[in-house]
Amino acid sequence: MAKDINKLPYDEATLTKLEIFEQYLLAWLPVFIQSQYSQRIRICDYCAGSGQDSAGIPGSPLRILRTIEKYRDSIFEKNISVDVVFNEKISDKSDELQKSVNSCFDYSSWNSKVNISCHNEEFQNLFERQYEQLKQQPNLIFIDQYGIKEVTPEIFQMLIDLKQTDFLFFMSSSAMNRFAHTPEFRVHFPDIAPEVISSAKYEDVHRIMLEYYKSKIPSGNETKLYPFTLKKGANIYGLVFGSKHPLEVEKFLDVAWDKNKINGEANFDIDKDLPKKEATLFDSLPDYERLKTKKELFEVELWNFIKSRDKVTNKDIYYFTLDQGHPKSHARECIMQLKKEGKVEYKGNIGYSYKSCVKNDPKPIRLIK
Ligand SMILES: C[S@@+](CC[C@H](N)C(=O)[O-])C[C@H]1O[C@@H](n2cnc3c(N)ncnc32)[C@H](O)[C@@H]1O
Repeated sequence: MAKDINKLPYDEATLTKLEIFEQYLLAWLPVFIQSQYSQRIRICDYCAGSGQDSAGIPGSPLRILRTIEKYRDSIFEKNISVDVVFNEKISDKSDELQKSVNSCFDYSSWNSKVNISCHNEEFQNLFERQYEQLKQQPNLIFIDQYGIKEVTPEIFQMLIDLKQTDFLFFMSSSAMNRFAHTPEFRVHFPDIAPEVISSAKYEDVHRIMLEYYKSKIPSGNETKLYPFTLKKGANIYGLVFGSKHPLEVEKFLDVAWDKNKINGEANFDIDKDLPKKEATLFDSLPDYERLKTKKELFEVELWNFIKSRDKVTNKDIYYFTLDQGHPKSHARECIMQLKKEGKVEYKGNIGYSYKSCVKNDPKPIRLIK
């Protein structure tokens, strides 16, 4: 039995998870409020808990409400309807959540622009029942499960089949390690070889789970997945973010790299990059003998990518950067450095955001041979 997360103060890793979710939501909402394509959006928190921790720190549902509040004016101005779905399977916790929502959410002031429904069901039942509804508008889905059992291969398939849907799910990757050899595990994940999990390095279990989910994406499905590993004592947990849209990927990577400027994918130094950085400052080793940090490796890859092509634009660089799991700021810094070194040239200022690269005409970057 998992400990009730809402009966204790949230620990550091949980707070990081909640902050990533909230910061992502803060970036996600305005995209759809401003969009001319949809008048309705939906935010689902399917394992919502009771609303806060034992010290009154807001959990995911109350963070959703306070983020929506920040966009009150634009929601009215753009005449967007926001449906919020909360679900918690334990009745007492679900009742408590409903009370917290009632006390902090001023229904009448929203004039039905924001609709909240609180459910007390098994996630999978509710998800399947609401599935048709989820096809009707853009959604952000948060599945903050305990353990690993809720996002089964079937549920994952349903998630990635949805259009205009971004999702974040949490999983206890260490639980994979513990249960990998049990019959129950085989029922949930019939096609993961237990040895792959049990032989993995502890820090890498979440990445391996991510690769497993990636391998389940059929060709032709555009969903991209990104991890954020969370270490909590001797356990490894993590978030999996999924989206089909580059702008949402860009926003998630900005949030993740803001949380950890060394690797953008963990709440610790997952690839031992800090000693590599220190070596740059204090060792007299030539550049080629030094181990490179994740960001330096990206710069090498980006340079190789540019050299491998006859023509390259900021749009090509934008997609390459997202595929590599880096934020647009890394692309900008790298290209500016290449220009300084006389390796590339371009006219004026070039941006590396979705707006600059995809919405506007792509700008050429010329390799100086
Ligand atoms: C990690 S906690 C969520 C914490 C919450 N996001 C917060 O910020 O406080 C997981 C919650 O999901 C609930 N839960 C677990 N399995 C569930 C299921 N199958 N369906 C719905 N809720 C579930 C648990 O009772 C627990 O309250």
